[in-house]
Amino acid sequence: MEPERPVHKKRIAVLASGRGSNFQAVVDAIAAGEIPAICVGLITDNPRAYAIQRAEDAGIPAVVVDYARFPSKAAYEEALLVAMRSCRADLFVLAGYMRILGAGIVHEFSGRMMNIHPALLPAFTGLHAQRQAVECGVKVSGCTVHLVDEGMDTGPIVVQRCVPVLPDDDESALADRILVEEHKALPLAVKLFCEERLEVDGRRVWVR
Ligand code: GAR
Repeated sequence: MEPERPVHKKRIAVLASGRGSNFQAVVDAIAAGEIPAICVGLITDNPRAYAIQRAEDAGIPAVVVDYARFPSKAAYEEALLVAMRSCRADLFVLAGYMRILGAGIVHEFSGRMMNIHPALLPAFTGLHAQRQAVECGVKVSGCTVHLVDEGMDTGPIVVQRCVPVLPDDDESALADRILVEEHKALPLAVKLFCEERLEVDGRRVWVR
Protein backbone atom coordinates (compact mmCIF):
# COMPACT_ATOMS: atom_id res chain seq x y z
CA MET A 1 0.00 0.00 0.00
CA GLU A 2 1.27 3.46 -0.88
CA PRO A 3 2.03 5.61 2.16
CA GLU A 4 -0.31 8.58 2.49
CA ARG A 5 1.22 11.86 1.36
CA PRO A 6 1.53 14.37 4.20
CA VAL A 7 -0.76 17.32 3.56
CA HIS A 8 0.79 20.73 4.03
CA LYS A 9 -1.81 23.44 3.76
CA LYS A 10 -1.21 25.87 0.90
CA ARG A 11 -1.67 29.59 1.29
CA ILE A 12 -4.12 30.92 -1.24
CA ALA A 13 -5.19 34.48 -1.97
CA VAL A 14 -8.15 35.54 -4.08
CA LEU A 15 -8.55 38.49 -6.43
CA ALA A 16 -12.16 39.52 -7.07
CA SER A 17 -13.85 42.62 -8.46
CA GLY A 18 -17.51 42.18 -7.55
CA ARG A 19 -20.11 39.85 -6.12
CA GLY A 20 -17.60 37.22 -5.02
CA SER A 21 -19.77 34.11 -5.25
CA ASN A 22 -16.82 32.10 -6.61
CA PHE A 23 -14.64 33.40 -3.79
CA GLN A 24 -17.35 32.21 -1.40
CA ALA A 25 -17.42 28.77 -3.02
CA VAL A 26 -13.67 28.40 -2.40
CA VAL A 27 -13.94 29.69 1.17
CA ASP A 28 -16.79 27.25 1.86
CA ALA A 29 -14.85 24.31 0.40
CA ILE A 30 -11.86 25.16 2.60
CA ALA A 31 -14.12 25.43 5.66
CA ALA A 32 -15.64 22.04 4.81
CA GLY A 33 -12.16 20.49 4.79
CA GLU A 34 -12.28 19.76 1.06
CA ILE A 35 -9.23 21.85 0.17
CA PRO A 36 -5.98 21.67 2.16
CA ALA A 37 -5.48 25.43 2.20
CA ILE A 38 -5.74 28.59 4.21
CA CYS A 39 -7.23 31.61 2.49
CA VAL A 40 -4.84 34.35 3.55
CA GLY A 41 -6.40 37.30 1.80
CA LEU A 42 -8.82 38.88 -0.60
CA ILE A 43 -7.56 41.61 -2.90
CA THR A 44 -10.00 43.74 -4.83
CA ASP A 45 -9.71 46.63 -7.27
CA ASN A 46 -13.23 47.77 -6.37
CA PRO A 47 -14.07 49.35 -2.99
CA ARG A 48 -17.77 48.50 -3.52
CA ALA A 49 -17.21 44.80 -4.20
CA TYR A 50 -19.55 42.57 -2.19
CA ALA A 51 -16.62 40.16 -1.94
CA ILE A 52 -15.24 42.46 0.79
CA GLN A 53 -18.25 41.73 2.97
CA ARG A 54 -17.82 38.02 2.35
CA ALA A 55 -14.16 38.26 3.41
CA GLU A 56 -15.13 40.08 6.61
CA ASP A 57 -17.76 37.46 7.39
CA ALA A 58 -15.18 34.71 6.95
CA GLY A 59 -12.47 36.52 8.94
CA ILE A 60 -10.23 36.88 5.90
CA PRO A 61 -8.18 40.07 5.55
CA ALA A 62 -9.36 42.17 2.60
CA VAL A 63 -7.15 44.67 0.81
CA VAL A 64 -8.61 47.24 -1.56
CA VAL A 65 -6.30 48.47 -4.30
CA ASP A 66 -8.76 50.93 -5.80
CA TYR A 67 -8.06 51.14 -9.52
CA ALA A 68 -9.75 54.54 -9.76
CA ARG A 69 -7.25 56.12 -7.38
CA PHE A 70 -4.22 55.48 -9.57
CA PRO A 71 -3.04 57.73 -12.40
CA SER A 72 -2.14 54.83 -14.68
CA LYS A 73 -2.44 51.09 -15.07
CA ALA A 74 1.29 50.80 -14.32
CA ALA A 75 0.89 52.64 -11.01
CA TYR A 76 -2.10 50.47 -10.09
CA GLU A 77 -0.21 47.29 -10.89
CA GLU A 78 2.77 48.41 -8.82
CA ALA A 79 0.47 48.70 -5.80
CA LEU A 80 -1.28 45.46 -6.68
CA LEU A 81 2.07 43.69 -6.83
CA VAL A 82 2.97 44.95 -3.36
CA ALA A 83 -0.37 43.66 -2.03
CA MET A 84 0.08 40.32 -3.77
CA ARG A 85 3.64 39.83 -2.53
CA SER A 86 2.60 40.61 1.02
CA CYS A 87 0.13 37.68 0.94
CA ARG A 88 3.02 35.22 0.54
CA ALA A 89 0.53 32.99 -1.25
CA ASP A 90 1.32 29.73 -2.98
CA LEU A 91 -1.64 30.28 -5.30
CA PHE A 92 -3.55 33.34 -6.49
CA VAL A 93 -7.12 32.68 -7.58
CA LEU A 94 -8.79 35.14 -9.93
CA ALA A 95 -12.47 34.76 -9.08
CA GLY A 96 -14.36 37.36 -11.06
CA TYR A 97 -11.34 39.66 -11.25
CA MET A 98 -12.28 41.80 -14.22
CA ARG A 99 -8.93 43.25 -15.30
CA ILE A 100 -6.18 41.93 -17.49
CA LEU A 101 -2.97 41.56 -15.53
CA GLY A 102 0.24 42.98 -16.95
CA ALA A 103 3.19 40.84 -17.99
CA GLY A 104 5.21 41.65 -14.86
CA ILE A 105 2.60 40.18 -12.51
CA VAL A 106 1.87 37.24 -14.78
CA HIS A 107 5.56 36.31 -14.93
CA GLU A 108 6.17 36.72 -11.22
CA PHE A 109 3.34 34.31 -10.35
CA SER A 110 3.57 32.09 -13.41
CA GLY A 111 2.16 28.60 -12.79
CA ARG A 112 0.53 29.64 -9.55
CA MET A 113 -2.26 31.90 -10.68
CA MET A 114 -5.60 30.58 -11.94
CA ASN A 115 -8.68 32.24 -13.38
CA ILE A 116 -12.29 31.20 -13.83
CA HIS A 117 -14.02 32.14 -17.07
CA PRO A 118 -17.73 31.61 -17.87
CA ALA A 119 -17.31 29.81 -21.20
CA LEU A 120 -15.72 26.71 -22.63
CA LEU A 121 -12.39 28.18 -23.66
CA PRO A 122 -10.92 28.74 -26.17
CA ALA A 123 -14.38 29.92 -27.25
CA PHE A 124 -15.75 33.27 -26.10
CA THR A 125 -12.85 34.98 -24.38
CA GLY A 126 -13.16 38.40 -22.76
CA LEU A 127 -16.23 40.17 -21.48
CA HIS A 128 -19.85 38.96 -21.78
CA ALA A 129 -18.85 35.38 -22.55
CA GLN A 130 -22.37 34.12 -21.81
CA ARG A 131 -23.92 36.68 -24.19
CA GLN A 132 -21.40 35.71 -26.86
CA ALA A 133 -22.42 32.06 -26.45
CA VAL A 134 -26.16 32.84 -26.74
CA GLU A 135 -25.63 35.06 -29.78
CA CYS A 136 -23.41 32.50 -31.46
CA GLY A 137 -26.09 29.82 -31.15
CA VAL A 138 -23.91 27.15 -29.53
CA LYS A 139 -25.85 24.30 -27.94
CA VAL A 140 -23.39 23.73 -25.09
CA SER A 141 -21.42 26.17 -23.01
CA GLY A 142 -19.89 26.12 -19.53
CA CYS A 143 -16.94 27.33 -17.55
CA THR A 144 -13.19 26.95 -17.58
CA VAL A 145 -10.54 27.25 -14.89
CA HIS A 146 -7.15 27.90 -16.45
CA LEU A 147 -3.69 28.96 -15.44
CA VAL A 148 -3.02 32.58 -16.26
CA ASP A 149 -0.60 33.48 -19.00
CA GLU A 150 -0.03 36.78 -20.80
CA GLY A 151 -2.99 36.37 -23.11
CA MET A 152 -6.64 37.06 -22.40
CA ASP A 153 -8.18 33.78 -21.15
CA THR A 154 -5.60 31.75 -23.04
CA GLY A 155 -3.61 29.82 -20.41
CA PRO A 156 -3.47 26.03 -19.93
CA ILE A 157 -6.85 24.55 -19.02
CA VAL A 158 -7.20 22.86 -15.62
CA VAL A 159 -10.95 22.09 -15.26
CA GLN A 160 -14.00 22.56 -17.50
CA ARG A 161 -17.67 21.89 -16.80
CA CYS A 162 -20.44 22.19 -19.35
CA VAL A 163 -24.14 23.05 -19.42
CA PRO A 164 -26.75 22.99 -22.20
CA VAL A 165 -27.76 26.24 -23.87
CA LEU A 166 -31.56 26.13 -24.08
CA PRO A 167 -33.68 27.69 -26.83
CA ASP A 168 -35.16 30.40 -24.59
CA ASP A 169 -31.92 31.35 -22.88
CA ASP A 170 -30.86 34.95 -22.63
CA GLU A 171 -27.50 36.04 -21.25
CA SER A 172 -28.76 36.08 -17.68
CA ALA A 173 -30.41 32.64 -17.74
CA LEU A 174 -27.30 31.07 -19.22
CA ALA A 175 -25.05 32.92 -16.77
CA ASP A 176 -27.08 31.53 -13.84
CA ARG A 177 -26.81 27.96 -15.16
CA ILE A 178 -23.07 28.31 -15.75
CA LEU A 179 -22.50 29.88 -12.32
CA VAL A 180 -23.74 26.71 -10.60
CA GLU A 181 -20.98 24.81 -12.39
CA GLU A 182 -18.39 27.51 -11.67
CA HIS A 183 -18.97 26.93 -7.98
CA LYS A 184 -17.92 23.30 -8.47
CA ALA A 185 -15.14 23.83 -11.01
CA LEU A 186 -13.18 26.49 -9.12
CA PRO A 187 -12.98 24.68 -5.75
CA LEU A 188 -11.99 21.51 -7.61
CA ALA A 189 -9.17 23.24 -9.50
CA VAL A 190 -7.92 24.90 -6.30
CA LYS A 191 -8.06 21.56 -4.49
CA LEU A 192 -6.03 19.82 -7.23
CA PHE A 193 -3.41 22.57 -7.08
CA CYS A 194 -3.23 22.44 -3.30
CA GLU A 195 -2.85 18.67 -3.34
CA GLU A 196 0.02 19.11 -5.85
CA ARG A 197 -1.79 16.93 -8.35
CA LEU A 198 -1.44 19.20 -11.39
CA GLU A 199 1.30 18.58 -13.90
CA VAL A 200 1.70 21.19 -16.61
CA ASP A 201 3.05 19.95 -19.91
CA GLY A 202 3.10 22.89 -22.32
CA ARG A 203 -0.52 23.77 -22.99
CA ARG A 204 -1.79 20.59 -21.38
CA VAL A 205 -2.45 20.05 -17.68
CA TRP A 206 -2.55 16.50 -16.36
CA VAL A 207 -4.20 15.52 -13.10
CA ARG A 208 -2.15 12.93 -11.18
C1 GAR B 1 -18.21 34.78 -12.90
O1 GAR B 1 -19.20 34.35 -13.78
C2 GAR B 1 -16.84 34.64 -13.52
O2 GAR B 1 -16.69 33.49 -14.30
C3 GAR B 1 -16.79 35.89 -14.38
O3 GAR B 1 -17.34 36.88 -13.57
C4 GAR B 1 -18.31 36.30 -12.69
C5 GAR B 1 -17.97 36.69 -11.29
O4 GAR B 1 -18.96 36.24 -10.39
N1 GAR B 1 -15.45 36.20 -14.77
C6 GAR B 1 -15.13 36.69 -15.96
O5 GAR B 1 -15.96 36.95 -16.80
C7 GAR B 1 -13.66 36.93 -16.17
N2 GAR B 1 -13.37 37.10 -17.57
P1 GAR B 1 -18.67 36.19 -8.83
O6 GAR B 1 -18.09 37.57 -8.47
O7 GAR B 1 -19.99 35.96 -8.21
O8 GAR B 1 -17.68 35.10 -8.57
